[in-house]
Amino acid sequence: MTTSTPEFTQSAADAFHTDGFLAFPELFTESETARYRQAAERIIDPANHNAQIGLITTTDAWEKDPTLRELALHPRLGTLAERLAGRPLRIWGGEVLAKKPHETTPSHLHDDLVTSLLDSPITFNAWIALVDVPIERGAMTFLPGSHRRPGPERVALDHIQDNTFPTYMVEHWPQLEWHPRITVPLRAGGVTFHHNRTAHAAGPNTTDQIRLAFVVTFTDATATYKPIPGHDPLPMKPGQPIDPDRYPRACDR
Ligand code: SIN
Ligand code: NI
Repeated sequence: MTTSTPEFTQSAADAFHTDGFLAFPELFTESETARYRQAAERIIDPANHNAQIGLITTTDAWEKDPTLRELALHPRLGTLAERLAGRPLRIWGGEVLAKKPHETTPSHLHDDLVTSLLDSPITFNAWIALVDVPIERGAMTFLPGSHRRPGPERVALDHIQDNTFPTYMVEHWPQLEWHPRITVPLRAGGVTFHHNRTAHAAGPNTTDQIRLAFVVTFTDATATYKPIPGHDPLPMKPGQPIDPDRYPRACDR
């Protein structure tokens, strides 16, 4: 593979905006991915297992671990993200999402907008596979074009049921139950990008190996803070631009 930003075409950006997701199967080299995987293995704590979604999660891993920060700020990733979005972006977060071997709980259908704390014209995630993720290890599934579904734009947080099926998504948008789905197995070092209103899910891990992914959240450079009623965890005022020192630009550094 190449170590430069993958060749970018306008049709890739168009596909991202039309489908609400896009895969880049080989964004990071084997040696890069091995370093990032080791950092992810070091930082995860089995005590942070979220039984509802079947994941071990981190909090602010990109700010705590220098190697994972390097991944979140990787110029190849940020350049690609800005080209896809067609606008300047900031990095809003970077977390490890681990699914234990034989974890039977899937992540049921959801969108990421429902928990977002931003007022922003665009927010989206890069989901980076740090190990091979075949379908059986908890690969991501996307509903193409579902980010363009009619309103409500976002559902109130207290309307979210615990990761059960049918989820709030099907309750509010019953047509999604019958929407085509694309599941994307990824080799280690591959990435999928998904818009924060794209309906998505991830399967259980039926294999003997842990599934390790690192998720980087990008948002528009002009994004402002928008707490959710009952969920206001950050030291910012509603409408305040997000701190450029804490949330750096995705590229051009
Ligand atoms: C997962 O990694 O299993 C779920 C990630 C997501 O919902 O974005
Ligand atoms: Ni999600």
